Amino acid sequence: MRTETIFVDAVNPDPVIVARAAALLRTGGLVAFPTETVYGLGANARDAAAVARIFEAKGRPAANPVIVHVAEPEQALTVASAWPEQAAKLAAHFWPGPLTIVVPRSPELPKIITAGGATLGIRCPAHPVARALIAAAGVPIAAPSANRSTELSPTRAEHVLHSLEGRIEMVLDGGPCPGGLESTVVDATGEIVRLLRPGLITVPMLEAVVGPLMSNPIANAHEPVRSPGQMAKHYSPRTPVRLVDGTDLAEALLSARHSGLRFVCVTFHRSENEDDADYTSGQFVNLPANASQAAAELYDTLFRLDSLGLHFILIEVPPKTPEWAAVRDRLQRAAST
Ligand code: TXA
Ligand code: MG
Repeated sequence: MRTETIFVDAVNPDPVIVARAAALLRTGGLVAFPTETVYGLGANARDAAAVARIFEAKGRPAANPVIVHVAEPEQALTVASAWPEQAAKLAAHFWPGPLTIVVPRSPELPKIITAGGATLGIRCPAHPVARALIAAAGVPIAAPSANRSTELSPTRAEHVLHSLEGRIEMVLDGGPCPGGLESTVVDATGEIVRLLRPGLITVPMLEAVVGPLMSNPIANAHEPVRSPGQMAKHYSPRTPVRLVDGTDLAEALLSARHSGLRFVCVTFHRSENEDDADYTSGQFVNLPANASQAAAELYDTLFRLDSLGLHFILIEVPPKTPEWAAVRDRLQRAAST
């Protein structure tokens, strides 16, 4: 299969291009498209065969449920069987935006989407291309991140092609995704909301709307509870990642240099007015000290480093504060073997 790449304006997507992509989706095709978080791999959520093709293209385990994307918050009611109060509050505050809300699923959706489970993750994305595409398709769109299973999520169309070229019909290239990390996922089926995956919408932001989140009794409070099908190893470059606390960094660098192995060290200290070129030398990449700016650059940086044939990537653990939770989570997964 030839994968067609079509450039589309990220702010004012051409309706003719959007209509072509939407027609593909309606006839069972797979279309990758930009969202404000990462690129998604879309299929018509009402078409079981099309959704099965997502699992096949990604090599995704059948036990890992897929989230469904809607063009307008109200469209969520067409795929949910109930809309709990907490879900309504969250949607009113954060949609359209990078939040996936898990609620009871509609029995009319194909079972494959939720891996047979009774709940469904729904997201109303804010990216103009995503919204225009879902609206034009006229159906809810099932869309995991547009990468092979366990690999890094794509934040650019090139990343999508790197792992899915020849496996999908089309990529809408709307340039880099502004957020750079996958959405926050919360379970809103109960009275107390539970964090399943940290993201750019942080715990303090969520708690300001729905009150204290359910803490995980086993791990630390506010560490996410594992979603069904979510594996520790996920979001990984092919090159091994070693995470090091800032206090141990000097020592880790010394021993890395002595080892004679090729590596690059990633830190998070770049200030607003520094040019990244000044701080990106052969052996160092200095990402922004601001968490959301660092998130926007993280996967693209890891993709680049992954192509250098390094023995490993040394990464400084970012600060242990709520706004860094999503970056820390993805780095821990990238480092787990
Ligand atoms: O930002 C995002 O969320 C991107 C863009 C494309 O929207 N999508 C994305 O999808 O990251 P995916 O499939 O790569 O990650 C969805 C996560 C998985 O960890 C999955 O296990 C979890 O959400 N999930 C999906 N449905 C769920 C459900 N019913 N209950 C619990 N967790 C669920
Ligand atoms: Mg994914």
